[in-house]
Amino acid sequence: MEIVLATRNKKKVEEIRRITAGLPITVRSLDDFPGCPETVEDRDTFALEVGRFTGKPALSDDSGLEVDALHGAPGVHSAYFAPDATSGNDPRNYHKLLHDLERAPDGKRTARFVCCIALAFPDGRVETFFGRAEGRIGREPRGQKGFGYDPVFLPEGFDRTFAEMTAEEKDALSHRGKALGLLARYLRGLPA
Ligand code: IMP
Repeated sequence: MEIVLATRNKKKVEEIRRITAGLPITVRSLDDFPGCPETVEDRDTFALEVGRFTGKPALSDDSGLEVDALHGAPGVHSAYFAPDATSGNDPRNYHKLLHDLERAPDGKRTARFVCCIALAFPDGRVETFFGRAEGRIGREPRGQKGFGYDPVFLPEGFDRTFAEMTAEEKDALSHRGKALGLLARYLRGLPA
């Protein structure tokens, strides 16, 4: 089965391709479908539009970081948390986060990444899969790997950030890895 990734975030595309590598699917990117609509109201709507345009199932990833001491922020604003951020990968986002948490003691820095994967079929059917990764926000950025807030996020039970982990380590613990694990189970139940 061919699935089109309904996202322009290259880092997400990289992770989704990596995590779904063993599945009986061929992952296509939006670049393979010139003229595809770009409107993003919410991710399910975008996936539906892409599904209808391409005639193939479309997969979207809606994700973000929730910090308890900030009452769930940055949440849906994760990609542009800093007012001058130019993308979800802009280090200004995590610098703002570290600044906002300056006074939060170690025990009050709990946070989680959440991910909702939506698989939209050309007939309008949508299946959703959720994953979360619990952890805490560090005091300074560490590591070069991953993207977004990875240098400041330490998954529960680890003293290393996602940005200090190998891709395989992050995938085994991450919100995206878990949501795509559920998608994999769903796809295995479908005729190939
Ligand atoms: P959106 O789903 O396009 O709104 O963007 C979500 C934003 O959350 C990304 O641009 C990143 O800033 C952040 N984010 C989501 N998943 C991850 C991750 O796995 N690591 C680090 N940051 C992430």
